[in-house]
Amino acid sequence: MNVIVTGASRGIGREIVKGFARDGNHRIIAISRNNEKLETLKSEGEKLNPGSEVIPFSADITARGFTDKFLPVIENLGPVDVLVNNAGGLINKPFRELTEEDFGFLFDVNVKSVFRLTRLLYPRFSKSAHIINMGSMGGYQGSSKFPGLSLYSASKGAVAILTEAMAEEFKEDGITVNCLAVGAVQTEMLENAFPGYKAPLSSEEMASFIVDFAINGKKYFNGKILPVSVSTP
Ligand SMILES: NC(=O)c1ccc[n+]([C@@H]2O[C@H](COP(=O)([O-])OP(=O)(O)OC[C@H]3O[C@@H](n4cnc5c(N)ncnc54)[C@H](OP(=O)(O)O)[C@@H]3O)[C@@H](O)[C@H]2O)c1
Repeated sequence: MNVIVTGASRGIGREIVKGFARDGNHRIIAISRNNEKLETLKSEGEKLNPGSEVIPFSADITARGFTDKFLPVIENLGPVDVLVNNAGGLINKPFRELTEEDFGFLFDVNVKSVFRLTRLLYPRFSKSAHIINMGSMGGYQGSSKFPGLSLYSASKGAVAILTEAMAEEFKEDGITVNCLAVGAVQTEMLENAFPGYKAPLSSEEMASFIVDFAINGKKYFNGKILPVSVSTP
């Protein structure tokens, strides 16, 4: 399979890349800004399974030039089977202190990048592709909300509805789109959101579920926002 994972330098995304490498002889494009970490990930992934190929692509997915820079990488890739829109950012700040720049930052990285990359890849998806958008329990309607995370949660709410709309438009082409509204996972982002909190799941554990879901979940779900959480937060 051809797999693309954004936010691959650390946390859940990094483990998703390793999970795909372990799973089979897949070609995995790993995107983030940190080239050094991606190069290490390439070695780690290919050591886990020498039949897999990890292709590091270091870029800021919110940058204007992203599309032009990324096109040559995907030109000869062949059909894309899995896209995991995992890259994300978080700002933990009381509502009254939030700025328009904070709004722009969060919606650029959490929402616009999903739109931009998916639109770019649209003609290149295979007839049974699965797109997974990383949501959050904070962006799941009716879930507990937490002080400081208003714009982050709102951006993930936008990702959830975008998922439903994309699934509707893409179904004629056999492309499945789902949103995983993930609960607490022990990563740098969680430490920023809830300092000192110990999450019930590691990145490896969450990634193992996501890799399995990316491969098999499209048989059972399309256009769904699935809460993946055993805890609050
Ligand atoms: N951890 C949790 O408890 C939790 C809960 C709910 C949802 N989520 C969601 O799960 C996803 C992964 O979260 P995580 O906890 O693994 O986060 P993380 O450890 O902070 O990792 C975020 C990843 O996104 C990449 N990234 C951020 N901005 C980028 C940009 N402009 N261009 C390219 N890459 C960028 C980072 O790489 P570089 O810095 O190298 O670019 C990094 O690889 C996010 O969408 C997050 O919102 C996480």
